[in-house]
Amino acid sequence: MATALIEAIQQRYACREFVAGKQVSAEELARVLEAGRLAPSAFGMEPWRFIVVTDEAGRTAVARACYDQPAATTAAALIAIVALVAALEPDSDYVRRQFLAEARGRDAEPIHTAYRSFYRNGSIAEWAQGQCNFAAAQMLLQAAHMGLGSCPIGGYDTPALTEALSLRSGEVPALVIALGQCRHDAPERIRKPFD
Ligand SMILES: Cc1cc2nc3c(=O)[nH]c(=O)nc-3n(C[C@H](O)[C@H](O)[C@H](O)COP(=O)(O)O)c2cc1C
Repeated sequence: MATALIEAIQQRYACREFVAGKQVSAEELARVLEAGRLAPSAFGMEPWRFIVVTDEAGRTAVARACYDQPAATTAAALIAIVALVAALEPDSDYVRRQFLAEARGRDAEPIHTAYRSFYRNGSIAEWAQGQCNFAAAQMLLQAAHMGLGSCPIGGYDTPALTEALSLRSGEVPALVIALGQCRHDAPERIRKPFD
Protein backbone atom coordinates (compact mmCIF):
# COMPACT_ATOMS: atom_id res chain seq x y z
CA MET A 1 0.00 0.00 0.00
CA ALA A 2 1.56 3.28 -1.12
CA THR A 3 1.97 5.96 1.52
CA ALA A 4 2.86 9.64 1.50
CA LEU A 5 6.55 10.41 2.03
CA ILE A 6 6.15 11.67 5.60
CA GLU A 7 4.23 8.51 6.44
CA ALA A 8 7.02 6.35 5.07
CA ILE A 9 9.48 8.38 7.14
CA GLN A 10 7.35 7.89 10.25
CA GLN A 11 6.84 4.17 9.56
CA ARG A 12 10.46 3.24 8.89
CA TYR A 13 12.34 1.63 11.74
CA ALA A 14 15.41 -0.51 12.04
CA CYS A 15 14.17 -4.09 11.80
CA ARG A 16 16.34 -6.48 13.82
CA GLU A 17 14.73 -9.74 12.64
CA PHE A 18 13.02 -10.69 9.39
CA VAL A 19 10.42 -13.36 8.64
CA ALA A 20 12.17 -16.53 7.44
CA GLY A 21 11.45 -17.60 3.88
CA LYS A 22 9.70 -14.37 2.87
CA GLN A 23 11.45 -13.18 -0.30
CA VAL A 24 11.89 -9.64 -1.59
CA SER A 25 10.70 -9.60 -5.20
CA ALA A 26 12.92 -8.54 -8.08
CA GLU A 27 10.59 -5.61 -8.68
CA GLU A 28 10.84 -4.44 -5.07
CA LEU A 29 14.63 -4.69 -5.21
CA ALA A 30 14.70 -2.75 -8.47
CA ARG A 31 12.66 0.06 -6.91
CA VAL A 32 14.89 0.26 -3.86
CA LEU A 33 17.95 0.40 -6.12
CA GLU A 34 16.35 3.07 -8.29
CA ALA A 35 15.76 5.21 -5.20
CA GLY A 36 19.47 4.90 -4.42
CA ARG A 37 20.52 5.57 -7.99
CA LEU A 38 18.64 8.88 -8.00
CA ALA A 39 20.21 10.11 -4.76
CA PRO A 40 22.05 13.44 -4.81
CA SER A 41 25.83 13.53 -4.50
CA ALA A 42 28.34 16.35 -4.24
CA PHE A 43 29.82 17.28 -7.63
CA GLY A 44 27.30 14.82 -9.12
CA MET A 45 29.98 12.22 -8.45
CA GLU A 46 27.75 9.26 -7.53
CA PRO A 47 30.75 7.64 -5.82
CA TRP A 48 28.97 4.34 -5.17
CA ARG A 49 28.23 0.87 -6.40
CA PHE A 50 25.32 -1.20 -5.13
CA ILE A 51 25.74 -4.94 -4.74
CA VAL A 52 22.62 -7.03 -4.24
CA VAL A 53 23.08 -10.30 -2.38
CA THR A 54 20.15 -12.71 -2.31
CA ASP A 55 21.71 -16.17 -2.66
CA GLU A 56 22.13 -18.12 0.55
CA ALA A 57 25.89 -18.52 0.42
CA GLY A 58 26.38 -14.82 -0.31
CA ARG A 59 24.01 -13.75 2.46
CA THR A 60 25.73 -16.04 4.93
CA ALA A 61 29.15 -14.60 4.05
CA VAL A 62 27.96 -10.98 4.27
CA ALA A 63 26.09 -11.70 7.52
CA ARG A 64 29.22 -13.23 9.01
CA ALA A 65 31.16 -10.07 8.12
CA CYS A 66 28.38 -8.18 9.97
CA TYR A 67 29.20 -10.21 13.09
CA ASP A 68 26.13 -12.40 12.48
CA GLN A 69 23.80 -9.68 13.66
CA PRO A 70 20.24 -11.10 13.45
CA ALA A 71 19.17 -8.36 11.03
CA ALA A 72 21.82 -9.65 8.61
CA THR A 73 21.39 -13.39 9.22
CA THR A 74 17.60 -13.28 8.74
CA ALA A 75 17.38 -10.77 5.86
CA ALA A 76 15.90 -11.98 2.57
CA ALA A 77 18.18 -9.61 0.66
CA LEU A 78 21.22 -7.53 1.49
CA ILE A 79 22.32 -4.49 -0.45
CA ALA A 80 25.91 -3.46 0.09
CA ILE A 81 26.66 0.15 -0.74
CA VAL A 82 30.29 0.42 -1.74
CA ALA A 83 32.29 3.66 -1.98
CA LEU A 84 34.35 4.01 -5.18
CA VAL A 85 37.37 5.56 -3.51
CA ALA A 86 40.13 4.90 -6.05
CA ALA A 87 37.92 6.06 -8.93
CA LEU A 88 37.77 9.53 -7.34
CA GLU A 89 41.37 10.40 -8.21
CA PRO A 90 40.92 13.75 -10.06
CA ASP A 91 42.28 12.59 -13.41
CA SER A 92 40.66 9.18 -13.49
CA ASP A 93 38.45 8.19 -16.40
CA TYR A 94 35.58 7.93 -13.93
CA VAL A 95 35.91 11.54 -12.72
CA ARG A 96 36.31 12.85 -16.28
CA ARG A 97 33.18 10.99 -17.37
CA GLN A 98 31.14 12.25 -14.43
CA PHE A 99 32.17 15.87 -14.98
CA LEU A 100 31.54 15.67 -18.70
CA ALA A 101 27.99 14.46 -18.03
CA GLU A 102 27.43 16.92 -15.18
CA ALA A 103 28.54 19.87 -17.36
CA ARG A 104 25.68 19.10 -19.82
CA GLY A 105 27.64 20.32 -22.83
CA ARG A 106 29.23 23.30 -21.06
CA ASP A 107 32.89 23.61 -20.07
CA ALA A 108 33.63 21.06 -17.34
CA GLU A 109 37.04 22.55 -16.50
CA PRO A 110 36.02 25.08 -13.78
CA ILE A 111 34.22 22.47 -11.69
CA HIS A 112 37.02 19.99 -12.34
CA THR A 113 39.56 22.53 -11.05
CA ALA A 114 37.46 23.10 -7.93
CA TYR A 115 37.30 19.34 -7.43
CA ARG A 116 41.08 18.96 -7.70
CA SER A 117 41.54 21.43 -4.86
CA PHE A 118 38.76 19.75 -2.84
CA TYR A 119 40.41 16.35 -3.39
CA ARG A 120 43.80 17.60 -2.16
CA ASN A 121 42.37 19.05 1.05
CA GLY A 122 40.14 16.31 2.40
CA SER A 123 39.86 12.65 3.21
CA ILE A 124 38.32 11.28 0.05
CA ALA A 125 37.49 7.86 1.51
CA GLU A 126 35.44 9.34 4.34
CA TRP A 127 33.83 11.79 1.93
CA ALA A 128 32.82 9.00 -0.44
CA GLN A 129 31.40 6.90 2.38
CA GLY A 130 29.42 9.94 3.55
CA GLN A 131 27.98 10.38 0.06
CA CYS A 132 26.87 6.75 0.08
CA ASN A 133 24.64 7.50 3.06
CA PHE A 134 22.43 9.70 0.86
CA ALA A 135 21.77 6.73 -1.39
CA ALA A 136 21.21 4.57 1.68
CA ALA A 137 18.64 6.97 3.17
CA GLN A 138 16.65 7.03 -0.05
CA MET A 139 16.70 3.23 -0.26
CA LEU A 140 15.51 2.87 3.33
CA LEU A 141 12.61 5.24 2.70
CA GLN A 142 11.65 3.55 -0.56
CA ALA A 143 11.60 0.22 1.27
CA ALA A 144 9.35 1.68 3.97
CA HIS A 145 7.13 3.22 1.31
CA MET A 146 6.54 -0.27 -0.12
CA GLY A 147 5.92 -1.80 3.30
CA LEU A 148 9.28 -3.61 3.37
CA GLY A 149 11.30 -3.89 6.54
CA SER A 150 14.89 -2.68 6.53
CA CYS A 151 17.92 -2.21 8.71
CA PRO A 152 21.00 -0.14 7.94
CA ILE A 153 24.05 -2.07 9.13
CA GLY A 154 27.28 -0.19 9.71
CA GLY A 155 28.61 -2.70 12.21
CA TYR A 156 30.84 -4.94 10.11
CA ASP A 157 34.41 -6.10 9.80
CA THR A 158 35.75 -4.19 6.78
CA PRO A 159 38.31 -6.77 5.53
CA ALA A 160 35.78 -9.61 5.95
CA LEU A 161 33.07 -7.67 4.11
CA THR A 162 35.51 -6.66 1.38
CA GLU A 163 36.28 -10.34 0.84
CA ALA A 164 32.65 -11.49 1.05
CA LEU A 165 31.70 -8.99 -1.64
CA SER A 166 34.81 -9.65 -3.78
CA LEU A 167 35.39 -5.90 -3.94
CA ARG A 168 37.84 -4.50 -6.44
CA SER A 169 40.92 -2.64 -5.32
CA GLY A 170 39.99 0.91 -4.26
CA GLU A 171 36.41 0.03 -3.34
CA VAL A 172 35.45 0.40 0.32
CA PRO A 173 32.24 -0.79 1.99
CA ALA A 174 30.07 2.08 3.22
CA LEU A 175 26.91 0.41 4.53
CA VAL A 176 24.86 -2.77 4.28
CA ILE A 177 21.08 -2.58 4.04
CA ALA A 178 19.14 -5.62 5.19
CA LEU A 179 15.69 -6.08 3.65
CA GLY A 180 12.75 -8.37 4.19
CA GLN A 181 9.42 -8.62 5.94
CA CYS A 182 9.99 -7.51 9.50
CA ARG A 183 9.12 -10.04 12.21
CA HIS A 184 8.46 -7.49 14.91
CA ASP A 185 6.46 -4.28 15.27
CA ALA A 186 8.09 -0.88 15.36
CA PRO A 187 9.76 -0.29 18.70
CA GLU A 188 8.99 2.90 20.59
CA ARG A 189 10.54 5.75 18.62
CA ILE A 190 13.35 7.41 20.54
CA ARG A 191 14.19 10.88 19.30
CA LYS A 192 15.06 14.26 20.73
CA PRO A 193 11.92 16.41 21.08
CA PHE A 194 10.86 18.58 18.15
CA ASP A 195 11.69 21.76 20.12
C1 LIG B 1 24.90 4.39 9.54
C2 LIG B 1 24.06 3.49 10.40
C3 LIG B 1 24.59 2.31 10.85
C4 LIG B 1 23.80 1.44 11.62
N1 LIG B 1 24.32 0.24 11.98
C5 LIG B 1 23.52 -0.64 12.64
C6 LIG B 1 24.01 -1.95 12.94
O1 LIG B 1 25.13 -2.30 12.63
N2 LIG B 1 23.16 -2.80 13.57
C7 LIG B 1 21.89 -2.44 13.91
O2 LIG B 1 21.17 -3.28 14.48
N3 LIG B 1 21.41 -1.22 13.64
C8 LIG B 1 22.18 -0.31 13.00
N4 LIG B 1 21.71 0.93 12.68
C9 LIG B 1 20.32 1.27 13.04
C10 LIG B 1 20.25 2.26 14.19
O3 LIG B 1 20.62 1.64 15.40
C11 LIG B 1 18.83 2.82 14.26
O4 LIG B 1 18.55 3.48 13.05
C12 LIG B 1 18.65 3.81 15.41
O5 LIG B 1 18.76 3.14 16.65
C13 LIG B 1 17.30 4.53 15.38
O6 LIG B 1 16.24 3.59 15.35
P1 LIG B 1 15.19 3.55 14.17
O7 LIG B 1 15.94 3.42 12.89
O8 LIG B 1 14.35 2.33 14.48
O9 LIG B 1 14.40 4.82 14.24
C14 LIG B 1 22.47 1.81 11.97
C15 LIG B 1 21.97 3.04 11.51
C16 LIG B 1 22.73 3.85 10.73
C17 LIG B 1 22.14 5.15 10.23
